[in-house]
Amino acid sequence: MRWVALLAAVAGHCLAAESPYPSPKAINSSTLLVIGDDALSGPEQLLVGTLQGITSRARPLVFRNSTGGARLWLAELQQTWGVSVESVPSVEALLKRSRPAFEGGYVLCNASSGDSVLAAVTASSLLGAVAVDASLQTVADSAGLEQVFDARNQTSMSVIRLLNGTSSGAVLSSRVAVLQAPSKLCCLWDYALFATAGAWYDPSMSDPTSRAILDSMQPGWALLGWGGSEKQTVTAASTRAGWVNAADWARNLAPLAGFRAAEPMAQPNALPPSLPPAPARKHTVAFLMTDGDNLQWLLNDFATGPAWWGSPQRGTVPMGWTLSAALPRVAAPVATMLYGQATVRSGPGSACDVFVAGPSGAGYAYPDLMGGEALATFAAASRTAARAAGLGVVNVLGSTYSAAAADAMAEGMDGVLWYEFDPYDGLHGSVSFSSQGVPVVGARFMLWEGYDTPESIAAKVATLSTDPTSPEAYSLVVVHAWSSNVTQAAMTAKLLEAQSVDVVCPDELVSRVRAFVRHA
Ligand SMILES: *[C@@H]1O[C@H](CO)[C@@H](O)[C@H](O)[C@H]1NC(C)=O
Ligand SMILES: *[C@@H]1O[C@H](CO)[C@@H](O)[C@H](O)[C@H]1NC(C)=O
Ligand SMILES: *[C@@H]1O[C@H](CO)[C@@H](O)[C@H](O)[C@H]1NC(C)=O
Ligand SMILES: *[C@@H]1O[C@H](CO)[C@@H](O)[C@H](O)[C@H]1NC(C)=O
Ligand SMILES: *[C@@H]1O[C@H](CO)[C@@H](O)[C@H](O)[C@H]1NC(C)=O
Ligand SMILES: *[C@@H]1O[C@H](CO)[C@@H](O)[C@H](O)[C@H]1NC(C)=O
Repeated sequence: MRWVALLAAVAGHCLAAESPYPSPKAINSSTLLVIGDDALSGPEQLLVGTLQGITSRARPLVFRNSTGGARLWLAELQQTWGVSVESVPSVEALLKRSRPAFEGGYVLCNASSGDSVLAAVTASSLLGAVAVDASLQTVADSAGLEQVFDARNQTSMSVIRLLNGTSSGAVLSSRVAVLQAPSKLCCLWDYALFATAGAWYDPSMSDPTSRAILDSMQPGWALLGWGGSEKQTVTAASTRAGWVNAADWARNLAPLAGFRAAEPMAQPNALPPSLPPAPARKHTVAFLMTDGDNLQWLLNDFATGPAWWGSPQRGTVPMGWTLSAALPRVAAPVATMLYGQATVRSGPGSACDVFVAGPSGAGYAYPDLMGGEALATFAAASRTAARAAGLGVVNVLGSTYSAAAADAMAEGMDGVLWYEFDPYDGLHGSVSFSSQGVPVVGARFMLWEGYDTPESIAAKVATLSTDPTSPEAYSLVVVHAWSSNVTQAAMTAKLLEAQSVDVVCPDELVSRVRAFVRHA
């Protein structure tokens, strides 16, 4: 035991810059058992979710079909990844059908009690079991499962004390933790089991359970889920050398994480190696949609929503899209589908869909709140993840601008698009260059309720520089996913093009800044 612990400690130390996201023993699957999710009760979703998580440790096996995005990923898996599906009609049939891939027992819980749900998920994670509400106990019994733990009166913390690192339990992951409101019985528990992660919920991020879990994490860890307050949750992760992958409404993340494309993945829109000469007296504008770090949005209605990827105007305008750099490790089929559908640039001034990593890189963190080593770990993890995803430009959302953080995040990247937390355009379009000469471009305008409109942006751009050697000749426009949309970007582009402004995708804006703006 001592040697194992020592090796783990040494390996853990070396691992810090590597991906925190686990892989199954075997990548990809040729067959999935598919159960309809829409008709399941909350306790059934909890049971099926934990079954997905535990079976996914070996290879993806169980998939839930639902009216959200799940249908898209099933279709992508069938069409592009060569997966065939076998429909399973009920939870009981699924439990029976998934043996012998799952040989564990069950943790009894009370799905009406948040404490008990979190305790049951954490115990299932440690014991390799599924979580079963008392109302489903006969279903579990008749499928031949045995009760291995009673979590009806437990909490996440009491389970950690009783089971973590003991002879009966595994050791909780120090690279992934799951923060999830236990009322969301539908979602994300699969990933907790897949990662052998602890699950808890504390909007304050400061109760004793938060402290125990946060203190047990190694630099370069990922918090999956969501908390009470964005700023508080992301600050808690950032100050402990971690980052957040918003995933609270994610279904099927564990099985999706078991499908892996060859890396680096290639987004279809590489810029030509040499740019045309500096445009004569032109202002350059690029749009960038916010919130692509949000895994649950990507998995649910991002791809179909008419405000976003599903917009009828997509493909008529040069559009930048933030995208989680973690996708190749947590849901590669989402990336293969989006990359396959992206509008490919056909020449100067043509429409395009170009993806940018972030915010803020490997996940959502405020790099300006990170100390030296933590910052280096986050920057390295972000660079590795972004490059694996085929993303050269990174969008950083800082709590406030820090030259040291911008410099670290720029290393090895083609460009940094920097947002301030409040408001995103707090840098007013200012441009700087990292010590390696990588452009760091602040947002200048926001298509965002209460901020700019297509008309106000067109009017302001008309007063700005058209000298391509000046940073004042470039405008990055934030497109707020929740109050603006592709239609607004297309309207703005139309007004700007009438003023002979060049509207390009964000990678091209970055390469113009790098090539043409005067700097020391
Ligand atoms: C998933 O659900 C949709 C809609 O209910 C259905 O059309 C589709 O056939 C289902 N796919 C599978 C593989 O069960
Ligand atoms: C389950 O939890 C709910 C909410 O805390 C509680 O009201 C109920 O009595 C519990 N059920 C059992 C069987 O303990
Ligand atoms: C849970 O705790 C309560 C109060 O201590 C007790 O009455 C009840 O029997 C316990 N239930 C279980 C399932 O252990
Ligand atoms: C779980 O156990 C391991 C090994 O003993 C320990 O390092 C870690 O801090 C524990 N996790 C928590 C959340 O207490
Ligand atoms: C998994 O499938 C993808 C898509 O078919 C393929 O590109 C990749 O090489 C496969 N990975 C492994 C390890 O088989
Ligand atoms: C786009 O945003 C505008 C302004 O908020 C709104 O009026 C319009 O309905 C939105 N369109 C779509 C397709 O979301």
